[in-house]
Amino acid sequence: MVLPLNKITNSFARQTRFLSTNVHKIAIIGSGPSAFYTSINLLKQNPKNLQIDMFEQNPVPFGLSRYGVAPDHPEVKNCQDRFEEFVQEQMSLNNEPSDNKNFKFFGKVKIGKDIHLAELYKNYHSVVYAYGSSAENQLGIPGEDHSGVINSKKFVGWYNGDPSCQNLNPPLDKVKNVTIIGNGNVAIDIVRILLADPETHWANTDITETALNTLKKSTVENVVVSARRGFLESKFTNKEFKEVLEFKDINFDGWNEELFEKLLNGKKLGRVEKRRLQLAKKYTNNNKDTAKKHWRLDYLKTPVGFKVDSNDPTLLKETIFQKRTIDEEGNISDTKDLASTENELVITSIGYKGEPLPEFKKLGVPFDSKRGMIPNIDGKIDFKDPHGTLSYCTGWIANGSRGNINTCVMSSSILADVINSDMQELKITDKPGREEIEKLLENRNVRVTTWSDWLRIQAKEVLLGQNSAKPFEKITDFDKMLNVLRD
Ligand SMILES: Cc1cc2nc3c(=O)[nH]c(=O)nc-3n(C[C@H](O)[C@H](O)[C@H](O)COP(=O)(O)OP(=O)(O)OC[C@H]3O[C@@H](n4cnc5c(N)ncnc54)[C@H](O)[C@@H]3O)c2cc1C
Ligand SMILES: NC(=O)c1ccc[n+]([C@@H]2O[C@H](COP(=O)([O-])OP(=O)(O)OC[C@H]3O[C@@H](n4cnc5c(N)ncnc54)[C@H](OP(=O)(O)O)[C@@H]3O)[C@@H](O)[C@H]2O)c1
Repeated sequence: MVLPLNKITNSFARQTRFLSTNVHKIAIIGSGPSAFYTSINLLKQNPKNLQIDMFEQNPVPFGLSRYGVAPDHPEVKNCQDRFEEFVQEQMSLNNEPSDNKNFKFFGKVKIGKDIHLAELYKNYHSVVYAYGSSAENQLGIPGEDHSGVINSKKFVGWYNGDPSCQNLNPPLDKVKNVTIIGNGNVAIDIVRILLADPETHWANTDITETALNTLKKSTVENVVVSARRGFLESKFTNKEFKEVLEFKDINFDGWNEELFEKLLNGKKLGRVEKRRLQLAKKYTNNNKDTAKKHWRLDYLKTPVGFKVDSNDPTLLKETIFQKRTIDEEGNISDTKDLASTENELVITSIGYKGEPLPEFKKLGVPFDSKRGMIPNIDGKIDFKDPHGTLSYCTGWIANGSRGNINTCVMSSSILADVINSDMQELKITDKPGREEIEKLLENRNVRVTTWSDWLRIQAKEVLLGQNSAKPFEKITDFDKMLNVLRD
């Protein structure tokens, strides 16, 4: 049966009205692992009446998976393949590559600058904060801003090709002794960066060419990883500890035996602690006679200041620490004694810090400044704006810059369940969503990068890496990325 045109048009109008009023429109801020896993879980559970728009301030996606995870951990970055597969699936489902219905990536759109948070609240039914941690923790001691003290966030961004960190120019060709303050997994990544052989270990990774060349000229020989608490409180995990212990050309100097027993304090050790101790004992002085490069762990010391090298005032001479002590119950307290460690360079690796978005205060979105996170229960934020929009958060901004990518997998899955259950109860009123946001971006002349743009940038990076041992060569300048799209 052939319907007359007016009937088709009426039926289509009814259908689209029905569709549009039943579509739950979600804005996700960020495109790191937590944003992607949340999108994947949401669309898996509810493929029909959801529309997700993902906003990323950089032209390219993946957050710390691209700009944080160490270049020698490609298996961790495999999550990116899953994310790409997901977007591909969405595109083929909708058969509209540049503007698919259920999911759209908006690269180079910073929320708070290009699009205001208030505009997201007005246009979407739910806002999901997945924007990670934009700041670094500070020691708050004199000399922290000296050129011989570098923060891990900048150092990591530098070797991973984050365009905002490319001016760092760390003086690795001028120093022999480096102290890393803090002993989390980022500190352990930095030990490998500083000590592993650039030719055999780094040359075939996605480390930037600039960082690789700097490492080739590096004169670093000794690294001390210094912590303010004891061995049992070490923040690194055993897997990462073992990884660095196994290098044949690096010696693990262990630590002072005298201090050792005190740190354990006769405590009954759990399985993880036993394993850590086993590893430390087994590998102490493992390559003593052959290795030119050394590292050790140092405990119970709080940094209080730095001495500058009088011959080269751009570098340090030593770091001054206040010694701490541990009592029989395992309580740690400061002593009056000072100690110093000889080092020309210090890298502070004391964790990242989440910050509120600029409009939080004005809109009333809660934020815990002390912990650097958005308070939430299973990702749900106790805040509903006047438009009835619900607020959620996930990943590092939801848990205070802690956890690895598996943690993101778990928390994003819980969040998707929470959102889905809220959706069952929510009476959906029509909201413009993507349509309005696209108009705003166009009126503001924002050059949005689409998913296809990202694929073109990625293809260019693969091409750039072709003549080296690397899988690809990251483009480390946002303007150059846009030039690729213009070409
Ligand atoms: C140095 C380092 C190494 C790591 N190595 C590992 C590892 O080996 N294995 C592992 O499992 N985990 C590792 N992790 C942890 C892992 O990277 C994190 O668990 C994970 O990336 C957190 O994901 P996220 O989505 O919450 O935040 P992120 O990955 O930080 O993503 C947040 C995104 O939001 C964007 N954004 C921020 N503000 C805005 C805004 N206003 N508008 C739009 N977009 C915005 C950012 O540009 C970013 O792309 C590492 C972390 C670091 C720091
Ligand atoms: N391979 C991996 O899976 C991997 C790799 C990298 C990162 N990550 C994850 O990413 C997260 C962040 O890692 P991270 O290493 O940046 O942070 P982290 O694990 O929180 O470690 C921070 C370190 O800095 C110390 N510290 C903090 N403030 C200090 C201060 N004011 N003075 C002296 N020391 C201070 C902490 O000591 P205290 O313990 O005493 O507070 C701790 O040793 C972690 O959850 C980590 O597991 C995972």
